[in-house]
Amino acid sequence: MTTIENDYEFRRFASSGAEVSPETRGWLQADAQGFHAKKFTEASLARVSEGLTTDRQTLAGAYAKSRQEASLPAEYPVATFASFAKSLNVGGGRMLPAHLISSVTVRPTHRRRGLLRRMMTDDLAIAAADGFAVAALTASEATIYRRFGFGPAAWTRSIEVTTDARFRLLTVPHGSCDQIDAQQLTEIGPRVFGRFHAGQTGSVDRHVGIWHHVSGMVDSDGEEDRSVRAAAHYDEHGDIDGYVSYTVTGDPRTVKLLDLVAADDNAALGLWQYLASIDLTETVTWEQGRLDEPLAWGLEDPRLLRVKAVEDWLWLRVLDPVAALEARPYSSAGNLVLRIVDALGHASGVFRLSVTDAGAQVTREDTAAPDLELDVWVLGSLYLGGADPLSLAAAGQLAEHSPGAVRTLRNLLASDQPVYGITPF
Ligand SMILES: CC(C)(COP(=O)(O)OP(=O)(O)OC[C@H]1O[C@@H](n2cnc3c(N)ncnc32)[C@H](O)[C@@H]1OP(=O)(O)O)[C@@H](O)C(=O)NCCC(=O)NCCS
Repeated sequence: MTTIENDYEFRRFASSGAEVSPETRGWLQADAQGFHAKKFTEASLARVSEGLTTDRQTLAGAYAKSRQEASLPAEYPVATFASFAKSLNVGGGRMLPAHLISSVTVRPTHRRRGLLRRMMTDDLAIAAADGFAVAALTASEATIYRRFGFGPAAWTRSIEVTTDARFRLLTVPHGSCDQIDAQQLTEIGPRVFGRFHAGQTGSVDRHVGIWHHVSGMVDSDGEEDRSVRAAAHYDEHGDIDGYVSYTVTGDPRTVKLLDLVAADDNAALGLWQYLASIDLTETVTWEQGRLDEPLAWGLEDPRLLRVKAVEDWLWLRVLDPVAALEARPYSSAGNLVLRIVDALGHASGVFRLSVTDAGAQVTREDTAAPDLELDVWVLGSLYLGGADPLSLAAAGQLAEHSPGAVRTLRNLLASDQPVYGITPF
């Protein structure tokens, strides 16, 4: 009988740091090809490999056992997969270690043979055994990951803001802005992001590659991007509490934001004021805007902000319902029994969620009658409070066995603030 093991060897390894090993080189070049980026140069291979090592990423690859004349080198995997740990803000400033998955590619000549399924199920089993309560990813297509238990849990909006003479804020933000060298963001960026991350439900901590990208050190093809510019916002004590990085492109010229990070709302408005003051440009675009963008309320003419698209950003997969549900805060008291269905088994079972003033307690009670029944991907979507249980129930994805249970769940899970994040991975 033909099994996947007859044709492929599966390996997991750590990136080799700045001294790029043949295994790391092959993996990175295969990953770049999978995402249609340019081949890495030697300098960019070393930089990216070092970043993966800093983040302690585990690289996984599937290697074809047989090759044909002139096939890509044997050390190039035909499928790539990476995972690493970062914190997820689950509300009220509480941090939960999340198992992040990225770099999922399969060579076109090896697709639809089960390589993704094999690598995903292996990786999730390892994450569950290592004690992670949740896994997370961002998806290129929305139809791939639900079968593995992931549900969309946080969204962003792509916006376009007219910044011509009509741009006027109703309230002038305090503090000031100044232009800075974008490369400074490798040092300043993590500091400011740390403050944002601590205060934003749904935020995922960032990996090194993001700082390379937003500072212009490495573009998507691994090259330096010398068109990247940056500005910082300073509070009344002269401390940096926000920044933007951007390029100016097109005709008429448009400011395309790569990053906008603010430690508080005032700094965010101050940065928009700066962006609107850049002469010879009349539009700013930002692909990772908030669903609840306060700028729309801060503008004298709210129609200057136009929404181009709403996209799912974060997909969550609960691996351990007890640890995950006990980690997050709740907005009311209540008691519910949930039956969770998980095709991969990690989260399957019946669980009682009891929330009192003392906190949440979750116990496994396989013989209890469930108030609600849901697939594990639905739990992932509901977990942060970014999706409404009423909508999931209306879509036939959350079955109510006790009258009022959906509303009870809604009251329990409601987030204390709109769920949002600015971490591509
Ligand atoms: C998406 C991709 C990784 C799938 O890899 P693959 O090895 O062909 O997937 P598998 O053969 O293991 O398929 C696993 C399951 O996912 C389904 N599937 C795979 N790709 C899919 C897609 N693009 N859309 C919908 N379903 C998909 C398969 O039908 C299969 O379903 P089943 O197991 O329930 O029958 C691969 O096509 C790819 O590299 N695409 C380009 C890069 C990319 O988009 N990566 C994702 C980054 S988030």
